[in-house]
Amino acid sequence: MSSQKHLIAPSILAADFADLKKDIQMVNESEADWFHIDIMDGVFVPNISFGFPVMQAIAKHAQKPLDVHLMIVDPDRYLKVCKDSGAEIITVHYEACTHLHRTIAAIKELGCKAGVALNPHTPVSLLKDIIQDIDLVCLMSVNPGFGGQKFIERTYDKIKELRALAVENNTDLLIEIDGGVGTSNAGQLLAAGADVLVAGSFVFSSENPMETVKTLKAVDPSLKYV
Ligand code: DX5
Ligand code: ZN
Repeated sequence: MSSQKHLIAPSILAADFADLKKDIQMVNESEADWFHIDIMDGVFVPNISFGFPVMQAIAKHAQKPLDVHLMIVDPDRYLKVCKDSGAEIITVHYEACTHLHRTIAAIKELGCKAGVALNPHTPVSLLKDIIQDIDLVCLMSVNPGFGGQKFIERTYDKIKELRALAVENNTDLLIEIDGGVGTSNAGQLLAAGADVLVAGSFVFSSENPMETVKTLKAVDPSLKYV
């Protein structure tokens, strides 16, 4: 792992949109490290979540970095507004960017950390010529668009492949896992080489979300899987 301790990023997609402030406060007070913000356009993915005005409202109350996952076509059009809406990390999809190198440069010029997300069918090897330029790779462990889906087991092998690529080319790279993450797979994901765990429904559908974050943060891969 490139970071000392893994990071937890609760996904606001699973929060109570009628009472966002309460859930933002929960994340602020919890052991979570980032807010994971899912922006969808109904084109790249078959769903629409919320847009930048809502993100700005979240940013007003959030006391931790906003990790923004853009599930939109042609994200270049929205990088500036994304940064201005409070993003610290901007992740674009490999599959949505014809000129990914240019997009990554534009994100960095804005002063944000740059991430690339891969759909479950997209091989890790395609990152070979961009990995040295990015801060984070988000491996989708479900097909993007919806919360609460079943984790795709193939992800473990992808993490290992990506970690091997990162060891050679970018030792600071953070590997983030997004989709179907919970305590049943967190240890194995970390043992495979993940640094950041995104968790939506597992956190917000639980009885005590703050305690659930604490449990995810306390997962020790060496106890169970090594
Ligand atoms: C899915 C989003 C995820 C989603 C994860 O397209 O990118 O961030 O919120 O939700 P869970 O943790 O419920 O699978
Ligand atoms: Zn996401």
